Amino acid sequence: MTDKKLSGEVYYPSDEIVKNANVKNWDEVNNYALENYEGFWEDRANELSWFKKWDKVLDDSKKPFYKWFVGAKTNIAYNCLDAHVKTFRRNKLALIWEGEDGTKSNMSYYALHRETCRFANILKSLGVGKGDRVTIYMGRIPEIVTAMLACARIGAIHSVVYGGFSVEALHERLEDSQSKVLIVADGAYQRGKIVRLKDIADEALRRAATVEHVLVVKRTGHEINMESGRDMWYHELMNLPIADHGCAIEEMDAEDPLFMLYTSGTTGKPKAILHTHGGYMVGTYATLKYVFDIKEEDRYWCAADPGWITGHSYIVYGPLLNGTTSFIYEGAPNFPYPNRWWQMIERYGINLFYTAPTAIRGLMRWGNAWVNRHNLSSLRLLGSVGEPINPEAWKWYYEVVGNSKCPIMDTWWQTETGMFMITPMPCVPLKPGSGTRPFPGIEMDVVNEEGESVKPNEEGFLIIKTPWPAMVRTIYNDDDRYVDQYWGKFEGVYLTGDSAKKDEDGYFWVIGRVDDVIKVSGYRLGTAEIESALVSHDAVAEAAAIGMPHDVKGNVIYTYVILRSGIAPSDKLREELKKHVGHEVGPIAKPERIEFVDSLPKTRSGKIMRRVLKAKALGVDPGNISTLEE
Ligand code: WT7
Repeated sequence: MTDKKLSGEVYYPSDEIVKNANVKNWDEVNNYALENYEGFWEDRANELSWFKKWDKVLDDSKKPFYKWFVGAKTNIAYNCLDAHVKTFRRNKLALIWEGEDGTKSNMSYYALHRETCRFANILKSLGVGKGDRVTIYMGRIPEIVTAMLACARIGAIHSVVYGGFSVEALHERLEDSQSKVLIVADGAYQRGKIVRLKDIADEALRRAATVEHVLVVKRTGHEINMESGRDMWYHELMNLPIADHGCAIEEMDAEDPLFMLYTSGTTGKPKAILHTHGGYMVGTYATLKYVFDIKEEDRYWCAADPGWITGHSYIVYGPLLNGTTSFIYEGAPNFPYPNRWWQMIERYGINLFYTAPTAIRGLMRWGNAWVNRHNLSSLRLLGSVGEPINPEAWKWYYEVVGNSKCPIMDTWWQTETGMFMITPMPCVPLKPGSGTRPFPGIEMDVVNEEGESVKPNEEGFLIIKTPWPAMVRTIYNDDDRYVDQYWGKFEGVYLTGDSAKKDEDGYFWVIGRVDDVIKVSGYRLGTAEIESALVSHDAVAEAAAIGMPHDVKGNVIYTYVILRSGIAPSDKLREELKKHVGHEVGPIAKPERIEFVDSLPKTRSGKIMRRVLKAKALGVDPGNISTLEE
């Protein structure tokens, strides 16, 4: 802890928290990492198992194509499972699961290892091997973890598509990744209803050509179509002799790809962010250990979805690398009542709890009584991620959920960063709404158009100046886009796409996206995806989408639609268009509002000026409109 008096509203950690924390003196660790950056990460890497150690920690000779742990051999799945089953953790719970319908199950490290090996053998028998892409599309059920780890074990690249995405989003991702195998669930429970995932997949598969095998996990048990020769039941395959629990692990190069995860960018189709076995492993392992202060006896719950980076890094890989017991809940936070989450924290004795501001604001709305019915005294640390947390929600989370004794880890990071980048640790004084400072050794800044540091409390572009182990390696099949998008604006630094301020204490305050990415309930969507879904409807000629501030969801989507000639606007059509976007992209992308217009503000080169639309919707001055065509 610093002795310096900090400005603004500050929450200092108690002596007890500091005394018991893995890291007691943040400045000491940070100073060490700043002076000895590669050594700091090398120390972290040495806490994990490698088939062969690296020749070099960081290779920056082909910037921005950085390489970490060059020459090393490992497999992240080995460190998630095999390494633990050799120790006392063999019988420790790896996963505790509760379905929305109340079904419960547990898996020890031994059991998770065995199931993963068994499933890996099935994938192998279908001809899946190193470098092949496998798409995974299901809800929050234990099989999603087994499927991801089985791919990793045999060196296949998994591409998880969030279960809340729909037909066209899934199709696009299958097509772009050229997946041979799709692992899907028949359905998922969500707020008491069944989301018919297999039906959605069938429709997506009619549009895509590369998938040879579809493996279907039975979750909801409703009637589904099984196409003979293509579709097979997971549980039937797992009963075959081939699903033996002995399965050799593939020795991967540290830089070999582990997974790709699609995320929305500023233009066109979603891009597949590529992460690797070595650096990603070291980054997620160390950040979770330090920030969530993992203790052997902890029970940890990250309430995100495995289909997003938060789930990849901090439901699956980070916790398993740390040998933690992780809880996964399938359904909605308010089903059947708004106390569901608190009930489970109490029931399972959760110590570390990690969720998003949008969920906190939603839960806050339902009132304190739902929380206060439960004994949440097991909680030691809380976390927040996905968008800026407003101080009001921060304080509610701190006081009502955490009983004013649990520090809140407001972690800023991205699909591309793979791991926490701006984040406190339990020993760090907190300011509500700020993620505090970058993780030890990482240098970040806020700069102006010219790339110069701005003054304290001035807004600018948030950038990252140091490479880090879990960084994106490229966009799958699109190196140029990778270079352009992230390294093109300022020489040698990574552009996050966010705007931020840095205060006089060096604390960062992230404001939001400065590009055409919209965060709806913490989910990342591109204006282009929503627009192209609208335009794919017969009635629509042109469309524009913008994000508008919302109390609970952070942002909602407003759209402006030009209809084809001869088509009359109506409320019925408006509803139909919303449904269409839900069907193509997913329910999260449904516009809150659709306005029918005759023209859209465009630049002379024909680009839609969303900024002008937004200013109009907000009733504020649109600023410089000299490039406006009319
Ligand atoms: C964008 C990345 C990384 C996990 C989930 C999101 C926003 C993320 C915070 C935070 C303020 C945040 C940024 C970022 N964001 N965490 N703690 N405070 N903003 O991953 O979907 O890749 O989105 O989420 O705008 O750029 P993602």
